Amino acid sequence: MDMEKDLQTFIHIFKALQQEEKDCPVTESVDPEDLLKQLDLSLADEPMANDAFNENLKKLVLKTPKTASNRFYNQLFAGRKSKAILGELLAVVLNNSMYTYKVGGPQVCVEKEIIKQICSKIGYGENSGGTFPTGGSMANFMGLMMARDKFDSSIREKGVQQTLIAYSSSESHYSMAKNASFSGIGRNNVRYIAADSDGKMRADVLEAQIKTDIANGLSPFFVNATAGTTVLGVYDPIIELSEVCQRYNIWLHIDAALGGAVMFNEQYKYLLAGSEYSDSLAFNAHKMLGVPLSCSMILVRDKKYLYQSFSNDADYLYQGHNDDYNLGKMSIQCGRRNDALKFWTLWKSVGTEGLAKIVDYQFQLSKVAHDYIEQHPDYTVYSQSPSVTICFNYKNIDPKWLCNALYEQQQIMVGYGAQGDTTFIRSVAINTSNKKVDMLEFFTILEAFVAQNKAVLLSE
Ligand SMILES: Cc1ncc(COP(=O)(O)O)c(C=O)c1O
Repeated sequence: MDMEKDLQTFIHIFKALQQEEKDCPVTESVDPEDLLKQLDLSLADEPMANDAFNENLKKLVLKTPKTASNRFYNQLFAGRKSKAILGELLAVVLNNSMYTYKVGGPQVCVEKEIIKQICSKIGYGENSGGTFPTGGSMANFMGLMMARDKFDSSIREKGVQQTLIAYSSSESHYSMAKNASFSGIGRNNVRYIAADSDGKMRADVLEAQIKTDIANGLSPFFVNATAGTTVLGVYDPIIELSEVCQRYNIWLHIDAALGGAVMFNEQYKYLLAGSEYSDSLAFNAHKMLGVPLSCSMILVRDKKYLYQSFSNDADYLYQGHNDDYNLGKMSIQCGRRNDALKFWTLWKSVGTEGLAKIVDYQFQLSKVAHDYIEQHPDYTVYSQSPSVTICFNYKNIDPKWLCNALYEQQQIMVGYGAQGDTTFIRSVAINTSNKKVDMLEFFTILEAFVAQNKAVLLSE
């Protein structure tokens, strides 16, 4: 009964949120100290009366930044996919853990079906496998750990004794550096390989660096290619990189957290060409596919490496069934939430064709934005389609100032990024509820805002 009442409260608050998203698509920017004066977040000994509790909760929700509004271009996730949310809500209600078949039942099979399908899409064979870690950074970490343990399995017992060297492009995600430190490789042992003018990692520079490291007695063991870089959305040349990796027997991991969704689309899957030669791949369905955070996968061409790095016996946990169904033997976590169901409900409801359309539509939205800024002399363009990111500067205006001002004046939520020494605005075309007209309205708002704030800009 309580649950039903709370679900009614949920619907009431959700409707209020939807209205607010229309009326006020960019939440007021308030300093944390001031926000705490507006909201009662304190926890007390006494319970709060139900009506007051509901009002309090609603206020909290409405003051939260709105990532599904048509003015949110700030992050590599956005929007709301109803069928995926249905799956997420049911996963929460069921509250299983995915470590054993005994506790997860058919949910374990849901996860396995997704992993099987994705492995097949990226060209991995029968021995492949994978799991759902907590996010893309953690998926990359698992790739690094498997590579480390393949290089020398005794590291699991003795710790790292040699100087292992990992390679990643200068444009790659910052999880590479953190993961090097967590895994005992060391941040200083990551070589950041120069990118070409498009932002793609250069295979010739990679090979030269590997040769130098070998000549210096070091041990190259891991190359991280990025499929969809965080800022420019660029895809590294996987085939060329895989040839280098094969020559030196180095593990090739693909960080496809952002751009992996092209695997579902016949027109764009060429961007991932060569994925079948990689050893592992990280993919986030919570980015381009719009599944709620988090929905990340690590896939591996030979699942024995997942077991080698992550399995541990535990009599109190594993009490039956084939280990193929006891997924805890392949994960970092013990208790692990069900991140698979929300992806499955989306996929099942729209089919692979529907996932292909999501990707296609995002690239269309991005192209509308790219076409506009490319034809407009006041813009300098840094990104290229196909990419869900649109990187540009307007009239030499400081992008940091512009992004912050647009946010503070509740116009648009958008952020900035950099390539080398150049900083620019990075807008993201990832919300498939947006229409093409929203993409153009973005620029109308930005231009009008700059025109209105001329005086401020001149005084800067
Ligand atoms: C290329 C790339 N890899 C990894 C990540 C990290 O993913 P997560 O935020 O799920 O940890 C991101 C996040 O933006 C990314 O862009």
